[in-house]
Amino acid sequence: MPIPIILDCDPGHDDAIAIMLALASPEVELVAVTAVSGNAPLHHTRANAIRVLDHLGRPDIPVAAGADRPLVQDPFAPGDTHGPSGMDGPELPPPSRQPVPAHAIDLIAELALDRPLTLVATGPLTNVALFLARHPGAAAALQRIVFMGGAIGLGNVTPAAEFNIWADPDAARRVCISGVHVTMVGLDVTHQALVTREQNDHLRSRGRAGRLTAELVDYYARSHPGMPGTPIHDAVAVAQVVNPDLLTVEHCHVDVDCGSLSRGRTLVDRFHVTGLDPNVHVATAIDRGFTSWMTERIASLG
Ligand code: RIB
Ligand code: CA
Repeated sequence: MPIPIILDCDPGHDDAIAIMLALASPEVELVAVTAVSGNAPLHHTRANAIRVLDHLGRPDIPVAAGADRPLVQDPFAPGDTHGPSGMDGPELPPPSRQPVPAHAIDLIAELALDRPLTLVATGPLTNVALFLARHPGAAAALQRIVFMGGAIGLGNVTPAAEFNIWADPDAARRVCISGVHVTMVGLDVTHQALVTREQNDHLRSRGRAGRLTAELVDYYARSHPGMPGTPIHDAVAVAQVVNPDLLTVEHCHVDVDCGSLSRGRTLVDRFHVTGLDPNVHVATAIDRGFTSWMTERIASLG
């Protein structure tokens, strides 16, 4: 039986690739997509999610809009990594439909009460934190939460913090202390999930999904000039559900700095020096064949 998942995301080039990887993987069933502000304002991220599903011929998958700002921190203007639309580069038509009327957290709750779901989050964790607060019963019914974010080591938006956690550190802390089974897929592994130019050029000729992925990577590569490939951060979170053996995880205590200088730092107690109980399963290593596996999966969509 496929694992039912909801993808909460901020498309975003790598979020779009995560959506395609989920659709290309029979091990999971993408039950719904929920949008949060992050890489771009909410009106763009919700539209981009629908545009990707339109491209793949999936009008059956509902999209719901969620939070348009962090829980506590001031709203921020996203950088230019993803362009003004949040998914600049590929020429995709406008979305064919509107999001469903329900708020993202209410759609997640409705679906989670219907069957055991895995919630995969690849943007700021604002929707997830709001869901946990508003729907504790449905939260208790969740199988688990897997999020792309944080880092054992250095950040990418500040020296201390990875973007998704920096964007809403209070939400991230709420998720880490929730008591739900939580898996963190941070930069330590996603910075090894690099799509090379050769892999990307191969994808370009592999159908609609391959071509769109190649165009997304072309644009995203601009913000990673010094790397030997383009990190497809969000797809690694989906892969952790599809094929858990691709990642090594360790159960650690994780806290989040909600302060100022190190805002968004994930404090991963890998050596258990705090004596605090582990609360998050943290990815520490990734199979070297990940990007080949991922690109072939997406190419299989045709
Ligand atoms: O730091 C990488 C994360 O920030 C990814 O989820 C990317 O989409 C951006 O949201
Ligand atoms: Ca994202």
